[in-house]
Amino acid sequence: MNEKALNQVSWEKFSGMTPDERAPYFMEHGRTYHALVSQQFSRPILEDLCSLATCVRRIAKTREGSSFLQSRLFDKRAMLYFAQPSTRTYLSFDSACQTVGLDCMDVRDSSTSSEVKGESPEDTIRTFSSYTDLIIMRHPAGGFAERIAWMLSNTSRPVPVINAGSGKDQHPTQALLDIYTLERSFENIGGIDGKTVAFVGDLNRGRTARSLAGLLTKYDGVKIYFVAPPELQIGVDILAQLDAAKVPYEICHEFEQVIPDVDAIYMTRIQDEWDVDNESRLIDTSKFYFTKDHLSILKKDAVIMHPLPRRKEIDVAVDGDPRAVYWRQVRNGMWIRSALILSIFGLDDKVRGYCEENL
Ligand code: CP
Repeated sequence: MNEKALNQVSWEKFSGMTPDERAPYFMEHGRTYHALVSQQFSRPILEDLCSLATCVRRIAKTREGSSFLQSRLFDKRAMLYFAQPSTRTYLSFDSACQTVGLDCMDVRDSSTSSEVKGESPEDTIRTFSSYTDLIIMRHPAGGFAERIAWMLSNTSRPVPVINAGSGKDQHPTQALLDIYTLERSFENIGGIDGKTVAFVGDLNRGRTARSLAGLLTKYDGVKIYFVAPPELQIGVDILAQLDAAKVPYEICHEFEQVIPDVDAIYMTRIQDEWDVDNESRLIDTSKFYFTKDHLSILKKDAVIMHPLPRRKEIDVAVDGDPRAVYWRQVRNGMWIRSALILSIFGLDDKVRGYCEENL
């Protein structure tokens, strides 16, 4: 990929580009610098991140290994800026930072920052960049993390930005942990290539489904079903990306008919935090729940995924089935996010070297 400098392009031009066109602007010296949209990750980068995550997971099991990891980034600091609620993403990034020895500061609620005094979010985040070497941010405005990366690239202290969830559009590190979970689940049955994946639920406003669908275009022979009520179907922008990548897909409304055909089911909850007037209340989503009875028609090697949090869309009685991997996704998030941070700081080779020499 030919790298391009983010400070050499106007915001107007950059923001009009497709995610694939933006990808070269997020690389520096041959590696990921900003992590902002799922589509920026090429297949080789995905494979490297997954194998690095496995290295970190194995190294962290021993006391010597933990010490080795914790001394990697002892001189760096990260800012966790979460302007929207989070349990897993926040905690797994916090754990990932601790795993690689990165000190963390956080603002978890804009009402505790000087934004309440009228400071713009841009100035607030520019302030963070004065104290830290990495900004990990979740924000309700779509595209805002990219805007911040662009803005910082035009300052005297540019720092890498990781998008931990932006608006209804992107959750790239969730997509990374989902890919890592799929890789691990299918490692003995040919990997992700050739698999069929069903996305179920609120696909229109679900940034996790949108980001993972975009990332699946990097794999060969993948087929996708989008299963949702018409009001909550996947956006045409994602379908255009699948068309461009020649990924076959079907838009469906009958969940039960799809279950026996798929290798992975990606369940999502209704995203009613985006409702303007409680309009989700009027939509019957109960036909899109995965119940205990559905286990009998699911392939024996298939997996049931969910980014969590869940409501009723997966019966808790399903949790004990070995094909239910959503709690494994939660833990995988910590490993892949550790790998991403190490990679951004150019420490992949050192960590791989330790793995090869000691494990
Ligand atoms: N999957 C996910 O983003 O969960 P949180 O909102 O709890 O971070």
